Amino acid sequence: MLKMWKLFALIIASILLLSSSCEKKTEKPQPPVDETIPGVYNPTPFTLVAPQYLGQAIIPDDNPMTEEGIELGRRLFFDPILSIDSTQSCSSCHDPAASFSDNRQFSIGVNGDQGLRNAMPLVNLAFNPNGFFWDGRRASLEEQALDPIEDHLEMADTWENVERKLQRHADYPPRFKAAFGIEKKPEITRDLVVKAIAQFERTLISANAEFDKVFLRAERFPTDAEQRGKLLFFFEPSDNFDNHPGCSHCHGGQHLTDFSFRNNGLDDVEELENFADLGRGGVNNNRFDNGKFRVPSLRNVELTAPYMHDGRFETLEEVLDHYASGGHGVLNEDANIRAFPLTEQQKMDLVVFLKTFTDTSFTQNPVFQNPFK
Ligand code: HEC
Ligand code: HEC
Repeated sequence: MLKMWKLFALIIASILLLSSSCEKKTEKPQPPVDETIPGVYNPTPFTLVAPQYLGQAIIPDDNPMTEEGIELGRRLFFDPILSIDSTQSCSSCHDPAASFSDNRQFSIGVNGDQGLRNAMPLVNLAFNPNGFFWDGRRASLEEQALDPIEDHLEMADTWENVERKLQRHADYPPRFKAAFGIEKKPEITRDLVVKAIAQFERTLISANAEFDKVFLRAERFPTDAEQRGKLLFFFEPSDNFDNHPGCSHCHGGQHLTDFSFRNNGLDDVEELENFADLGRGGVNNNRFDNGKFRVPSLRNVELTAPYMHDGRFETLEEVLDHYASGGHGVLNEDANIRAFPLTEQQKMDLVVFLKTFTDTSFTQNPVFQNPFK
């Protein structure tokens, strides 16, 4: 009888053992932690301050700016936690000292691979009505910020993983609560991450360059070289169209861009299909837009070399030589790309004028710097 009982116990025990080892084998991935977030939600509304001449900032109704949202966005922007191996942050390619661009021809992602385009400066983004990236493929800053995380040539992570890392972080959950009023950690999602980053990006306003002080606010008189450069850059209707650089046809106004997409004559191609980078045409499938890129703002252009979507020019002098040569006459080249004479003196004057766009109070603004340093 005793033997029988022992055998019975043995069978039970082995069943238990078996089932528990089975359970181990089919262990599911940990569900996201479901914990209540400590802290308070009492957001401080933030009013974007910018000179009137920059126009109306574009702020989506569903992402009003708050002090707490901007500070969270700044942290996320500078935090390598958003990349697969925690080595790269947005700021790795968007460095404040370079007007939030980098000085490489093509940026390097976490895997050491080269990207396909030159990193763009991030300046006065709140005023761009015409889409983000060189080809304008993303309509808002919120949409734009979804891309770099999962781009294999950039941060190469997955949003699921980034969300998990932030939910389990010691510092971030109370900050998400303070910015967005959520109660539980699983509510920390990509949607809120990109909202916070976009809030921070909208604060990146540069309006204190010599260009602003001299030409937009008349706080002092221009030097002779600045004035000569300005007259070469800004086209007046009375000027001789054929002999004038006329940069302002495309880089006009306070933003030094009209935000349009144009072919500024960089590439000599036989057919519109042959551009190495289709640019705008790759987004809207209109072959006439192949090789067109968004006219970039020239604010802080002195600090954002190399130049163009593929970083092909290292200096402003090379850029000027390109424009003076008048492009290649490709079918969809902009009509304002025409050869013009350019003496050494004129070149120097234009460069002096382009350097008045430099705003070190922007690049060195303490509230735009890395909060982890
Ligand atoms: C590996 C380098 C790299 C990293 C990391 C990176 N970017 Fe960029 N960024 C670029 C490049 C290159 C472009 C232009 C790409 C294009 O036009 O296709 C760009 C374009 C942009 C633009 C468009 C600007 C405009 O005027 O249209 C914004 C905004 C931006 N990045 C924000 C971010 C944010 C936010 C992050 C972090 C979540 C980030 N970037 C991470 C390289 C990088
Ligand atoms: C027909 C419109 C047009 C005219 C005129 C024009 N540009 Fe541009 N500019 C563009 C476009 C479009 C780009 C971006 C092209 C690209 O990357 O493929 C650009 C890019 C640039 C860049 C590179 C900026 C960066 O961040 O990489 C500089 C600098 C520049 N232009 C200066 C000038 C100057 C100076 C003049 C006058 C001599 C001028 N442009 C005239 C349309 C124009």
